[in-house]
Amino acid sequence: MLSSGEIRRQFIDFFVQRHGHEFVASSPVVPHNDPTLLFANAGMNQFKDVFLGVAAAGPDGRDVKRAVNSQKCIRAGGKHNDLEDVGRDTYHHTFFEMLGNWSFGDYFKPQIIAWAWELLIEVWDLERDRLHVTVFAGDHNLGIEADDEAAEVWREVTDIDPTHVGYSADNFWEMGETGPCGPNCEVHIDLTPDRCGAGLVDKGDPRVIELWNLVFIQFNRNTDRTLSQLPARHVDTGMGFERICQVIQGVSSNYDTDVFAPLLAGVRKVTGAADYGGSLTDPVDVAYRVIADHVRCLTFALTDGAVPGNEGRGYVLRRILRRAVRHGWQTLGTKQPFLHLLVPAVIESMGDAYPELREDPQQVMDVIKDEELSFARTLGRGIALFEQAAHADRGQIGGSDAFKLHDTYGFPLDLTQVMAVERGMSVDVAGFNRLMDEARQRARAAGGRELGAQRLLEIVQTQNPPPTQFTGYAGTELEASSFCLWFALTGDPPGTLDKVGAGDEAILVTGTTSFYGEAGGQVGDTGTIDRGADCTFRVNDTQKVGEVSFHIGLVEQGTFRTVSEPSERLRWRVDRDRRRRIMANHTGTHLLNRALRLHVNPKADQKGSLVDDQKLRFDFAHGAAVTLQQIRDVEEVVNQDIGADLPVYDGVVPLEEGKKINGLRAVFGEKYPSPVRVVSIGAPVDDLISDPANDQWAPLSIEFCGGTHLARTGDAEGVAIVREEAVGKGVRRITALSGAAAHESAATADLLLNRLAALRSLPHDRLAVAVAELSRAVDDATLPLVPHAKLRDGLAELQKTLKEHEKQEADRASGDVVQGARRIADDADGDVIVASVDGADARTLRTAMDVIRKRRPDAAMMLAAASSEKVAFVASVPKPIIDRGLKAGDWVKDAARAAGGSGGGRPDMAQAGAKDPSKLHDALEAARDYAKRVLG
Ligand code: SER
Repeated sequence: MLSSGEIRRQFIDFFVQRHGHEFVASSPVVPHNDPTLLFANAGMNQFKDVFLGVAAAGPDGRDVKRAVNSQKCIRAGGKHNDLEDVGRDTYHHTFFEMLGNWSFGDYFKPQIIAWAWELLIEVWDLERDRLHVTVFAGDHNLGIEADDEAAEVWREVTDIDPTHVGYSADNFWEMGETGPCGPNCEVHIDLTPDRCGAGLVDKGDPRVIELWNLVFIQFNRNTDRTLSQLPARHVDTGMGFERICQVIQGVSSNYDTDVFAPLLAGVRKVTGAADYGGSLTDPVDVAYRVIADHVRCLTFALTDGAVPGNEGRGYVLRRILRRAVRHGWQTLGTKQPFLHLLVPAVIESMGDAYPELREDPQQVMDVIKDEELSFARTLGRGIALFEQAAHADRGQIGGSDAFKLHDTYGFPLDLTQVMAVERGMSVDVAGFNRLMDEARQRARAAGGRELGAQRLLEIVQTQNPPPTQFTGYAGTELEASSFCLWFALTGDPPGTLDKVGAGDEAILVTGTTSFYGEAGGQVGDTGTIDRGADCTFRVNDTQKVGEVSFHIGLVEQGTFRTVSEPSERLRWRVDRDRRRRIMANHTGTHLLNRALRLHVNPKADQKGSLVDDQKLRFDFAHGAAVTLQQIRDVEEVVNQDIGADLPVYDGVVPLEEGKKINGLRAVFGEKYPSPVRVVSIGAPVDDLISDPANDQWAPLSIEFCGGTHLARTGDAEGVAIVREEAVGKGVRRITALSGAAAHESAATADLLLNRLAALRSLPHDRLAVAVAELSRAVDDATLPLVPHAKLRDGLAELQKTLKEHEKQEADRASGDVVQGARRIADDADGDVIVASVDGADARTLRTAMDVIRKRRPDAAMMLAAASSEKVAFVASVPKPIIDRGLKAGDWVKDAARAAGGSGGGRPDMAQAGAKDPSKLHDALEAARDYAKRVLG
């Protein structure tokens, strides 16, 4: 029996050896630089720009005409989504491999159809009368005819049974809502024992399944849903790898092939479940399939840099993970994290074909385990809530239960739906959606950004503007003749504008520019483009698609026209200070990248970066928080590099040569052109190329980078790290400042540290206010992390002293008050006591009253306490004296009035306040007089 590894090999060899194709490695399953895609969903994704005519197919920028590969694909969201079928059938997967071959404007229908037949019949020896094909039936709305040509070719160049060639209206393949597309023909195989499956083609029956899809790419689908013809005609084929393995290995399900066998065995081992039985309906077998499928998907996606999260791609992965975990708990009965333990089984069966899996499996396992643990915290209670809801709601899980499951217990809606379907129930999705409105608004905001990129892509595809030459490495100003092509910001009108005038917002494409278009994490330039003295276009952003730069902004004065000849004399002026800050931040990022490897993690792979005029931000793979000591070390190394004023070199070299440089850093999964630009700090690019293996290069900063950099590191002036945080499992983010911003932040920190030092000698009564003020200032400022930590510690220490002091004071004060009260009680004669209590306030005045009352229960008393801004009074009168006419409420009111206040209360007990402490004496006199008057 052929193994799956051999089958993969044979497919590739067939096209390489027999038909002159070049092998191109699979692109990462996480597409970088394509906002229209969640995951790679087909082999052709990485060639999208080739079909659109804006890029070459070769990995090193060469013009490859025929390619073949095996592509890692995920179909779990977006236009192609097989998630709901996984587990319930035997041939749909979230992650699968697609064997594919491509013609880029080279061969077309007759060749690929003949070769497809050759491979299936001659090489793999499939039975011809089991094969059926369908071609496109045509579409009036699209204005596309039925593909009689393909049907004809099938009958002519192969010996397929002519009655096995049919038409299907669905045979029009598109990668997403927009992008390259075209009519396709599908090869299906009839696996029924007596070959009676003709009627089951395309009916979703596991006995007749689609094996291979041949797409004739000819169009691009635009955002407004129209189709435009592409410059050339291409072939794009895709064959489900797991399915062909099933067929060739002669088993009845993808899960019975050697692709899945080690995984199913693994599931049994880690969960202790009963053996896999292969039934379509037994929940245990469904759980086996779901878990085996999902762990493959997660292992590949995480290896390629995705992270589970709450939005977009990350949320798709979290949902997949939670579905698998729920099955483990509820169906297979394991209550321990188990999914991460299956990662080695995936690597064992796939690691040879995809060596990247072996790079850091521990990291992948850690991320999955963390996710499992965090879901485990709520999973049990969530299942209980679901059970309750399922009993209560007869037939339907209510929207608010579904929302609560989502919000409180982390059950994604689709998981609740799966669980409902298992019980023959549904979920009130409308109710759920109402409650999720807020979340949907967030998603809409994200969609808006995509549309902007989409507009530029559309201009490239439909108007095909020529590439822009970038002169901005040498200088920010440029004067030259160039054509101008003007476009509206929205797709209306779709083509160029004749002219634009003052007040118009527009997009400008010119033949050359000194403006850097956003790329590689560096933001686009801003500035002005002038024609003569009276025509000015203010550029608010510069974006790049392929080789074309787009200046996006507002016409401030004058009128510009679209001209296709290089006739206009233009002047490009980039906002120079802003660009200088951006360059300093970009060079600072390279230094930071280097220092992180030295002091934090030698394998700290770059996961993303953002360089603008305010800051630099760098995301990298690292499993733990970066310690303060590491921050200190990293900052020190970076600043030493800056102090050494090293020259920054750049050079353009063939990609293959660049890759050989010892210590070179690139972003994994990024597609680099050839020739590629190398930015090196400390060693001339020529030296690197003439002796790439030299050990001397390894510790230097050498990166593939198209960004703009300082000429020397000294121009960065200094770097300060101001933030360190997690941005997902296993990914940390560092934010730093450079140049004046770094110095300003360091100076602010010094100032605040001085203030902190001064606080230490402040008398306690002023300390509380000063500490609060300084805390606020620390919170408001952007400070380097090291002094920031010092400030936080210092403030915490002062707060502690303050608390201790306050407590001592309070103890002492109430001690004083109690003593004073005793003295008052002991000194008093007669049955009326009127006194002021030293050191008391409104609260301790009550304590004093209690002390005195204990000693002199027979006496009426009026006590007062004065602070710098007010006077407090309390009065208490025992029953016998009330009977003689003295009421506490009236008494205290009269006394307070004498000090400009008011108050009152019951006859036995009352209190009052007054504003004028200087009248304390008068008030006490008044109280004595009042008592004398009443009691006689
Ligand atoms: N792009 C087509 C598919 O995914 C053929 O490769 O089916």
